[in-house]
Amino acid sequence: MLDQLTAIQTNTQAAIELAKNPQDIENLRIKTLGKKGELTLLLKNLGSLQPEERKEMGKKANEVRDVITSSLESARTNLEAIAQEQALIAEAVDITLPGRSKTLGHIHPITSFMWRLEDLFISLGFDVVEGNFIETVYNNFDALNTPQSHSSRDESDTFYIDETHLLRCHTSPAQVHIMETGKLPIRVISPGLCARYDDIDATHTPAFHQMEGLVIDKGINFGDFKGMMEIIVRYVFGPEAKTRLRPSHFPFTEPSVELDISCYACNVDKPRADCSVCKASGWVELWGCGMVHPKVLEMSGIDPTVYSGYAFGLGITRMTSAQFGIPVLKPYYENDMQFLGQF
Ligand code: PHE
Repeated sequence: MLDQLTAIQTNTQAAIELAKNPQDIENLRIKTLGKKGELTLLLKNLGSLQPEERKEMGKKANEVRDVITSSLESARTNLEAIAQEQALIAEAVDITLPGRSKTLGHIHPITSFMWRLEDLFISLGFDVVEGNFIETVYNNFDALNTPQSHSSRDESDTFYIDETHLLRCHTSPAQVHIMETGKLPIRVISPGLCARYDDIDATHTPAFHQMEGLVIDKGINFGDFKGMMEIIVRYVFGPEAKTRLRPSHFPFTEPSVELDISCYACNVDKPRADCSVCKASGWVELWGCGMVHPKVLEMSGIDPTVYSGYAFGLGITRMTSAQFGIPVLKPYYENDMQFLGQF
């Protein structure tokens, strides 16, 4: 029995040395000192010994149990401390690392450009009103003196929703809403999205932004109109930009003109033969404009013998891209963060 006791002590001690964590220790405790543990079972056999031997073995067995118990306890304390330390290392937060920064969005370049233009017009005494992206065919065409035969009314040019509604193909229907309020004089701008059945190229996208302008008062003449066009160009492109008014035709203005600026991608006096922005002409078309047609005034209940005015439909997308010198319009409508993130 003495040998057995010694063996239990030596083996358990050796196993304690090898234990890796508190659970190993607990398993060892059960294996040796548990209800069916090796030492417990051995102690149960003491009763079969002679009284003398029983006393001696009993003493020895108690010693062995005490030694094992205290070895197990100190090993458990030690391993628990190690486990706790490892957990702390694993959970440690390095407070010297820089924080994770959040990516901040910003206003879309077309919107911020429109806001900039609105500032100009507000400083000149204009009101800003919103039109409707979905319009009646009447406001988009008829009330603007655009007859049934006009090509822009064709199904291959305009997005119709039904017989009487469409996605406006310009911001000009806002003119009709403004005039119909009956308030005079009028100094108003109306920015917004428009849609046309256009193939995408450097200067066309099926959706684009315009800003309508309408001025109606007594005695407004072509000189006032031209002066205002110059103010807008100077404000956006600076004094060095050259302007050109080119005869054009819109059913709702008379006379009608297109405003062009000197090409920002090459040189107006010596245009590059391969310039895709001005197509080698030296000029870039920015917006259509003109004196409000007397018929349009009449249709909206304004007396053309007393009142006159001018209107313009600023090509906001073209102006934004001209301002940044980026000669393609498509990326402004593509939600490409690599492109939009630059502004
Ligand atoms: N609505 C015209 C267009 O989209 C522009 C325009 C507006 C022309 C106002 C004259 C007056 O092309």
